[in-house]
Amino acid sequence: MRGLCAGVAALLVLAGCGGGDEPRAAADYGEALFQDARLSPSEYNPFSCATCHVTTPAAPAGRIDSGHTLYNVAARPSWWGGNETRLLDAVNFCYVNFMRGVTKLEADEPRSRALYEYLSRISPDAQAPALPFTVVKDIQDVPRGDATRGEAVYRAACQGCHGATHTGEGRLTSQASVLPEVTRDYDEAFPGIPHAQVVIEKVRHGPFFGVGGNMPLYGTEALSDADLGALLTYLGL
Ligand code: HEC
Ligand code: HEC
Repeated sequence: MRGLCAGVAALLVLAGCGGGDEPRAAADYGEALFQDARLSPSEYNPFSCATCHVTTPAAPAGRIDSGHTLYNVAARPSWWGGNETRLLDAVNFCYVNFMRGVTKLEADEPRSRALYEYLSRISPDAQAPALPFTVVKDIQDVPRGDATRGEAVYRAACQGCHGATHTGEGRLTSQASVLPEVTRDYDEAFPGIPHAQVVIEKVRHGPFFGVGGNMPLYGTEALSDADLGALLTYLGL
């Protein structure tokens, strides 16, 4: 029966298969995988799914994530601003681009099944709307804002990975540069380009548009230009 079950699961794209306690055990395993950076085989990956996604209906105060909440994610008709129409593809986009997963998670492997059971468990509604995701393609300067707001934005959006400004204390990984000190090297690395523009490009494009690395990108729904402008003021850029 296992072979049949796996085959059917592949056809249905991760639809649950099997009864009784199996889905619950799988969901528990999926929750553990969701919170574990070792889901990715890369020793250079510091991120788990939970680094970038909450699973509660709304983000708790003081937390701004690049990724949407995954509450009700399995009930959405599409993902990544409509670009992905299979949930596993939406997950693999993160797995490969942010978590250095190298090869995609396959539909019939136990880890994918378990993640699906967990994502289903945090999706209590039958249907939920697709969430918008607006990528800023052409990088433009943003009006600077209030430094106090900027500090709050830094703590909510950047500090978890980059640690304290100037020292990096408490950062998730030494791969995450110390802000804003890293911009001192930008005259050499990006001659003629204002430092703020390099930072805006990193925040808005993440690893994409030829930028490289594995930091996630922030759409305008996650981080408004106003909050980004306040953040730049706080960073002295
Ligand atoms: C480094 C940050 C990061 C990590 C790690 C990450 N994601 Fe994402 N994820 C994002 C961003 C950014 C988006 C795009 C915005 C959005 O649609 O939520 C996204 C989008 C998604 C979406 C589409 C949501 C939607 O409704 O559009 C799903 C599903 C998803 N991620 C699942 C996962 C899972 C499962 C993992 C772990 C295997 C994971 N992500 C790891 C940042 C991350
Ligand atoms: C999920 C973790 C994570 C979050 C959240 C995050 N970063 Fe990063 N960031 C990284 C990592 C890891 C790198 C180094 C790899 C790379 O360049 O992608 C990096 C690199 C950067 C760089 C490039 C540094 C250089 O070497 O030129 C800048 C600028 C930056 N981040 C700014 C920010 C700002 C501003 C925020 C908040 C809006 C933020 N980051 C949020 C993980 C993160």
